[in-house]
Amino acid sequence: MVTTREFISIAAWHFLERPELRDRYLAAPEEERLEMLHETLRLEPVVGNLYRRATADIPLESQGKKVVIPEGDMMNIHIYAANVDETVVGEEPLALCPGRPIQGERIPSMIMGFGDGHHRCPGSYLAIQETDIFLHRLLALDSLHMERIPTLNWNELTTGYEIRNFMIAV
Ligand code: HEM
Repeated sequence: MVTTREFISIAAWHFLERPELRDRYLAAPEEERLEMLHETLRLEPVVGNLYRRATADIPLESQGKKVVIPEGDMMNIHIYAANVDETVVGEEPLALCPGRPIQGERIPSMIMGFGDGHHRCPGSYLAIQETDIFLHRLLALDSLHMERIPTLNWNELTTGYEIRNFMIAV
């Protein structure tokens, strides 16, 4: 999947730029490694926006304000904003802190990185497992390093990043 390809690249980029994260990832048991990948996806969602049409009036209350989204309206859910909501993810929402406590019921640590509800990504477990299997072996190569900073493009369809010219070497 193109989403998994982009995610593997951004996670590799983070870990190669931060040796302490890379060392922690290589030494960690599987559960902690997957948590590190979830936190990376929270910060770097591959899909930036999701659209939904309200099938009924939706009453909401947020920060003391009441609003009703009328039936039939199109909603544009900003995943980047939702994933860094301080009331959910706590302080320093833009920092990569695997294992941070999440406030709220049944909220996964990648927040909306795999969407939510009926259409939540059915490939989420596969994507994280695949990323872990590949990166755990790749990053274990001692002298592995980035040759240069990759090119970062923007994909208008997924409203997400695309990483190109990612040159690594041993
Ligand atoms: C890191 C990698 C991935 C990310 C970030 C990702 C993200 C997402 C997101 C945000 C959605 C929700 C779309 C929506 O609500 O409209 C979605 C849906 C979906 N994903 Fe993934 N995905 C990834 C990997 C995969 C993989 C590996 C598969 C298949 C093996 C997969 C299959 C699907 C399918 C079939 C849907 C549509 C579900 C539906 O509409 O009911 N995804 N994905």
